[in-house]
Amino acid sequence: MLTGKVAIVTGSGSGMGEATAKQLAKQGVAVAIADLNWEKAVKVADSIKAAGGTAYPVKVNVSDSSSVNQMVNAVVKELGGVDILVNNAGIVTQSSVLEQTDEEWRRILSVDLDGVFYCTRAVAKQMKEQERGGKIVNIASVVANRPRRFHGAYTAAKAAVAALTRVWALDLVEYGINVNAVSPGHIRTPLTEGYFTGKVKEAFEEMIPQGTIGEPDWIASVVVFLCTEAASYVTGQVIDVDGGFNMSGEIPALYRL
Ligand SMILES: NC(=O)c1ccc[n+]([C@@H]2O[C@H](COP(=O)([O-])OP(=O)(O)OC[C@H]3O[C@@H](n4cnc5c(N)ncnc54)[C@H](O)[C@@H]3O)[C@@H](O)[C@H]2O)c1
Repeated sequence: MLTGKVAIVTGSGSGMGEATAKQLAKQGVAVAIADLNWEKAVKVADSIKAAGGTAYPVKVNVSDSSSVNQMVNAVVKELGGVDILVNNAGIVTQSSVLEQTDEEWRRILSVDLDGVFYCTRAVAKQMKEQERGGKIVNIASVVANRPRRFHGAYTAAKAAVAALTRVWALDLVEYGINVNAVSPGHIRTPLTEGYFTGKVKEAFEEMIPQGTIGEPDWIASVVVFLCTEAASYVTGQVIDVDGGFNMSGEIPALYRL
């Protein structure tokens, strides 16, 4: 269903972005591997090409609107347009509100929120001009609904991304552009590698009804579904892909689970 489409996946040099780019490429999509880290972007693009797919590595800093505009222009020139945008690039830090500095607050918001806005604006303009619709999928987070201490800036950005998904779905509906979001739960990637060991891993697993930390491919497959025509009547939705974490609050010991 996706053969011949062109996708931009931001932050696809690693983790869930990489898994998403590889799954899209397997479906016949030409994928722009848009990442701040050029070496990682080239490595992912090379591995897609080695598997017979089409990939174009492109360096971008999503927190800089001129870098984003240049990236989109380069992709259009190289791959002939854009049909799919996955706003996946993101960073995280931990600070109490008592210690959060102006610099750290701006750094997180500039990547995790401004970056999503800059990419969506640039790509939506291109999609409108092409007059063939499009699919935009934002990567939010379970923290948009479930508070996590010391994650203020990250939560502000992700909650805003979830809210903007609904606003932009309405802004763009007349151009046949679907805008949805996926909210990953706890997924093992280079971003979170340090978290999921020992007692902390056990505590996470106890809080996740399905009992396991997620894999990047489990997020990627839902993103890919949202990019297909099978999901054409889905817009403005934020879908939790979290093993049931968002609805959990149970005390397993109470039931001798
Ligand atoms: N891993 C999790 O458990 C989890 C849970 C919820 C949400 N998320 C979100 O999922 C997304 C992907 O996370 P991941 O765990 O795969 O992370 P990751 O660190 O493995 O990958 C993120 C990629 O984004 C790139 N990047 C960072 N800043 C950038 C910038 N300014 N411009 C362009 N690229 C930039 C990095 O180079 C990296 O390749 C992020 O938005 C993250 O907030 C992750």
